Amino acid sequence: MSAHAAPTRRLTLGDLAAKKAVREPIVMVTAYDHPSAQIVEAAGVDMVLVGDSAAMTVLGYDSTVPVTVDEMLMLTKAVRRGLDRPLLVGDLPFGSYEASDAVAIATAQRFIKEAGVDLVKIERGGTTVARAKALVDAGIPVVGHVGLTPQTATALGGYRAQGRTAEAALAVIDDALALQAAGCSLLVVEAVPSEVTAALMPLLDIPVIGIGAGADADGQVLVFHDLLGIYDGPAAKFVKRYADVRTVSVDGVAAYADEVREGAYPGPEHGYGMPEAEAARLQELLAGR
Ligand code: KIV
Repeated sequence: MSAHAAPTRRLTLGDLAAKKAVREPIVMVTAYDHPSAQIVEAAGVDMVLVGDSAAMTVLGYDSTVPVTVDEMLMLTKAVRRGLDRPLLVGDLPFGSYEASDAVAIATAQRFIKEAGVDLVKIERGGTTVARAKALVDAGIPVVGHVGLTPQTATALGGYRAQGRTAEAALAVIDDALALQAAGCSLLVVEAVPSEVTAALMPLLDIPVIGIGAGADADGQVLVFHDLLGIYDGPAAKFVKRYADVRTVSVDGVAAYADEVREGAYPGPEHGYGMPEAEAARLQELLAGR
């Protein structure tokens, strides 16, 4: 089915399971505001993540760590207002779910009640597995995230691929299995060798969304700003640029600046008129002052 013929009703987790069953790839992308939500909706994606990558892509922080729940909620609400069909995933930021099950549930409930997300995403295995189970027990659908987990990149030795030795790969696989056993509905696997994803796939029943994890996953996710080329500079190895929006945008703003400086903009067609009689009367009024 082409993107444009897709049904307009909101997708469900059942729809994703059905796609997995028939090996129809699931398309996920990030969005961070109302216009980007409208763009990804129009492009016919299946899932939208308001990732904490927003910290870097739209808020200018140098990592995902500083972004707050309130900042994420503001962005997530704007995305919700621009979406209809895709499932919406809210990313719980660093420090907003780790401390206890109660903290995790309270934060996730804010994303559901205030921003209308369908699922929440949390990072890592380890203690996150217990948080995932607590959220699922509280009726909140959860997306797990293993492999490179940017919130704890420092502890992982930086933004680098994970699971590159057999033992490290096994640790990624064990985290994934534990998150599935905890009741996660979906799993994001980031920056692992494709062999790790290939080994993982037969072991998991839930849909697996890869990012830098090879072609064997049930779907792929990319960051909106990465795939559209909205910023300058290097990107991760797994990023493919499908557009050069930064160049188009800089050219557009530069053309506007040139026209303002040359007096070419605004032209008469960009202004508002006044009836001649009113203009004449205005002159009279001014002269009479
Ligand atoms: O925050 C984010 O954008 C993410 C994706 C890279 C999966 O977690």
